[in-house]
Amino acid sequence: MTTIKYTLTVFAFLVFSVAGNSQAQTHQMNPGDMVVPVGDSEVVAQGGEIFSEKCSACHGGQAVGTGRAPCLSCGKFMFRGNTNSEIFETIYSGTPRTGSRGGKMGAFSSVLNDNEIISVVTYLRATEQARIASGEISDPYAGNQDAMVFPE
Ligand code: HEC
Repeated sequence: MTTIKYTLTVFAFLVFSVAGNSQAQTHQMNPGDMVVPVGDSEVVAQGGEIFSEKCSACHGGQAVGTGRAPCLSCGKFMFRGNTNSEIFETIYSGTPRTGSRGGKMGAFSSVLNDNEIISVVTYLRATEQARIASGEISDPYAGNQDAMVFPE
């Protein structure tokens, strides 16, 4: 009887874990890209708090962009590339200078640790997905996603 109870408990635990995992969606732009847990509401909330505190003054609420700085929830990243790894790198080391463009945003590596930057990237992707799902912006990946990478 004890064995049966134990087996049932383990079974219930496994079912619960698998169900939990399948709900926790992740996002990556291609198979080599950094995976971000867009379905993990805690990580998204943490990233959102950091974003409001450190980024929204320039990039706007929901990262929709302002006259000072570009949209970061429109699926288009012009300065380094649109993979999660490239967005992480842009936040970590600032925007790269290419010709007369870029170089206007400094590095955040001394302000935010790696996990905090990952949570911000997660927040940006979750916001982008929510905006696509609600029809607020059209899906930038419907066509060729490589076309969104500039200047490469
Ligand atoms: C003082 C204003 C300011 C703040 C604060 C700021 N940014 Fe920026 N950001 C900019 C500007 C301006 C650009 C455009 C880059 C350029 O012209 O060099 C930019 C560009 C970017 C890009 C590149 C966008 C692209 O199209 O590739 C990312 C990603 C980004 N910022 C993320 C962040 C995050 C995350 C934070 C907060 C941790 C943040 N920024 C805080 C001004 C700011």
